[in-house]
Amino acid sequence: MKNTVTTLQAMKTKGEKISMLTCYDYTTACLMEEAGINAILIGDSLGMTMMGYSDTLPVTVDDIIHHCASVSRGLKDTFLVADMPFMSYQTSVEDAVRNAGRLIKEGHAQAVKLEGGATVVEQIKAITKADIPVVAHIGLTPQSINAFGGFKVQGKNVERAIQILEDAKAVEAAGAFMVTLECVPEELATLISKELTIPTIGIGAGNGCDGQVLVYQDMLGMFSGFKPKFVKHFANIGEDMKNAFKAYDAEVKSQAFPAAEHNFAIDSEVMAEVEKHINTTEFTVNLDSDKVLA
Ligand code: KIV
Repeated sequence: MKNTVTTLQAMKTKGEKISMLTCYDYTTACLMEEAGINAILIGDSLGMTMMGYSDTLPVTVDDIIHHCASVSRGLKDTFLVADMPFMSYQTSVEDAVRNAGRLIKEGHAQAVKLEGGATVVEQIKAITKADIPVVAHIGLTPQSINAFGGFKVQGKNVERAIQILEDAKAVEAAGAFMVTLECVPEELATLISKELTIPTIGIGAGNGCDGQVLVYQDMLGMFSGFKPKFVKHFANIGEDMKNAFKAYDAEVKSQAFPAAEHNFAIDSEVMAEVEKHINTTEFTVNLDSDKVLA
């Protein structure tokens, strides 16, 4: 069944949980589509996972479009959301609509996601008015890392908890059809999910959300260093890949690979003629034309 804004909303109404993962390339997109994941996010986390930056701030609209278009070619039924990177919507409502439009037209996304609550309601209203569905993102918003002073759980005191609840209400009223809650205490996220009509998608926000999202390299265990508390490793692909790379390196060096079954054959008469040609021909290199002349 094709996932759309309507089916995702219906899942919340029926109490069915929504699965979402980040994705950045065609091959992985095909696997997620086959696995039946409901929605894919081209997260600006690609700045870290695909480009090696230390945060999401340097990511551009062109970066997101490049990865989004690749992923879109692997999808049939999975819903595709593209992140709006830092400074692609904060500068003005016009910039927000223009850049959201590029993610749809050039990236082939079906919706865009942007960070912020009450402060970005004008952008959300204008983008939805252009018939582009919007996913809001509140709680910990990584594009605000410099303002937050680091990646920390949000909403632990009364003032901040009420602010996150009010942000959730504000983005829903502005027209967002879904909202991501990042690093919010479970009870607060559960309360917000009950208060809102639109689906909530949690990351580090507990089981009371209407769905979950994870960065796919995190859930596949592809990073050996830091593992955030909210991440579960569903596989240990990083170790498997490293072992495969080591085995390849060893077999290339020992000449165990390629073996007979990997090689292409040639008739012995053809090879005999080639060898005769070598033995009877003097080769010279014409440096001017870069051609090998007999
Ligand atoms: O960029 C991203 O991957 C995200 C998720 C963490 C929700 O925004």
